[in-house]
Amino acid sequence: MIKWAFNFRAWQPTRSEWMFCGQCIQNEERERIKRFVFKKDAKAAMAGRLLIHKAIADCLDIPYKEIKLGRTEKGKPYLVNKVQGSLSFNVSHNGDYAVLAASKSGIIGVDVMKYEVRTSVPQFFHTMRRQFTESEWSQIQKSTEEREQLKTFYRLWCLKESYVKALGVGIGFEVSRLDFTFNTEYLEENVVTTDTFLKVDGVHLSEWTFEEHTMDNHCIVVAHNQQNTTMSDCDKESGRKFEHFKVLQLNDLVQCASSLCDPDEEFWEQFDPKDEAPQIHRKTSS
Ligand code: COA
Ligand code: MG
Repeated sequence: MIKWAFNFRAWQPTRSEWMFCGQCIQNEERERIKRFVFKKDAKAAMAGRLLIHKAIADCLDIPYKEIKLGRTEKGKPYLVNKVQGSLSFNVSHNGDYAVLAASKSGIIGVDVMKYEVRTSVPQFFHTMRRQFTESEWSQIQKSTEEREQLKTFYRLWCLKESYVKALGVGIGFEVSRLDFTFNTEYLEENVVTTDTFLKVDGVHLSEWTFEEHTMDNHCIVVAHNQQNTTMSDCDKESGRKFEHFKVLQLNDLVQCASSLCDPDEEFWEQFDPKDEAPQIHRKTSS
């Protein structure tokens, strides 16, 4: 299993970096990235693509320039090349990090959420009521502190999204059908928690593992299904230690990359003047 993270909020690309990164991804993805209004979203999407390319180049015997990625009807990226072996992968971006999880066996989904502080938490929970089961709400409300309640909320959210993303079904799946139960009440930094289980429509899905992480104020969950893998793959995986996410630097992302096309001046010209993120308008009391 590969688990990589990249802090895209801390990345202030230079012209040559951004231009080179743009050359290392497919044309349609570069065009998509141009359309983002804010730098943070463009950088997140770029990091996601570079993470995918790196994982494929590292794990499968395909020269970087020949990697061809497609998207399913629901938008999940996949490898188009027909090669020996396979790699299941998924990326997510939120807060400060883009993350990737990949495995040579089974299917995989990943989700990251920053533990953002919110105002009017009860109102927020009210609007989200129907996405969670009664038992999940009682887990959220176990603590009397709003901060802890929000952390549990984000944790459950990531669990649901990681599963939905592994299936690749996207928007429309009724996540209230998913009912997660914790055996470990709170996630700890640098500890991978794997004892949370899932029931779908009341049926326990024992072939799924949920690897939960908390890192630098973010929650990250990897959902992994190994039902359809061979015994030898399972044996290898069951004997492994659950590792934490490794934070990569830009150099790690691009060191094995090669350009797929000529430089596109417009790619920098469009990116450079953009704002990093929306301005947050706060009401000031007069
Ligand atoms: N399945 C799996 N992965 C997908 C996907 C799909 N259908 N569609 C896109 N992705 C991948 C892409 O790599 C994408 O990166 P890109 O936008 O740069 O191309 C990445 O996942 C986005 O993941 P993330 O950053 O976690 O985005 P998100 O959390 O906003 O969206 C989706 C996740 C794509 C599955 C979302 O569209 C969705 O449908 N979510 C479920 C909605 C829901 O009800 N959630 C409630 C949870 S309580
Ligand atoms: Mg997400």
